[in-house]
Amino acid sequence: AKIKEVVFVKSSSRAKDCPKHDRPEFAILGRSNVGKSSLINALVRKKDVALTSKKPGKTKLINHFLVNKSWYFVDLPGYGFAKAPEAARMDWSAFTKGFFLNRDNLVTVLLLVDASVPPQRIDLDCANWLGRNNIPLTFVFTKCDKMKGGKGRDELLLHMSQLRNYWDQ
Ligand code: GTP
Ligand code: MG
Repeated sequence: AKIKEVVFVKSSSRAKDCPKHDRPEFAILGRSNVGKSSLINALVRKKDVALTSKKPGKTKLINHFLVNKSWYFVDLPGYGFAKAPEAARMDWSAFTKGFFLNRDNLVTVLLLVDASVPPQRIDLDCANWLGRNNIPLTFVFTKCDKMKGGKGRDELLLHMSQLRNYWDQ
C-alpha cells in the first residue's frame, strides 16, 4: 500500500515509555551513520521527517512514526559510535535491548549494513544477538553507491552470507 501520511508520534528514552503495542511496527537498527534516518525519509518521500546528520550519533532516542494511521516505523539510535562515552554505549545496549525484548507488535527489525565496507564485528554481533533472541530480522544494505569496483553483486552476496552465518549460530 502507498504511504500517504507519516506523523511523528514521540521520542522515548525507555521501552516502557514507547506507544502502546497496538499496531504493527518495523524497527530500523544499525551502526551510527549507516543511514537509518535517511532510509525512513526515503521510504516516506520526505526530506526531514527523521533528522539526519553527517556526524554519527544524531538519533539518541527511540522515535515512533505513525504511517497511514496504521503502523509504525521506529527510528533507533545507532550502535558502535566509537566516540560515545562508555556510559552512553552501555546505555544504548540496555535500552534498545529492552525495547526488542518487549515489543510483541514488532514485525521485523530492518538491520542496516553499510555495503561499502565488509560487515563489522559489531554488525555480526548484533545479527547474532537478534538471532539468539528469536527476533525477526531483515538485512538492508545502504551506501551501495559507495561500493568500489564493478563487483557489487558478488560482494553483497559475500557480505550477506557472512551476516547470515552469525545470525544462524
Ligand atoms: P545515527 O542517527 O547517528 O545513528 O545515524 P543514521 O544511521 O540515522 O544515519 P543518517 O540517516 O543520519 O545518515 C548519515 C549520513 O549518511 C548522512 O550524511 C546521509 O546523507 C548519508 N547517507 C545515508 N544513506 C546513504 C547512502 O545510501 N549513500 C550515501 N552515499 N550516503 C548515505
Ligand atoms: Mg539517525
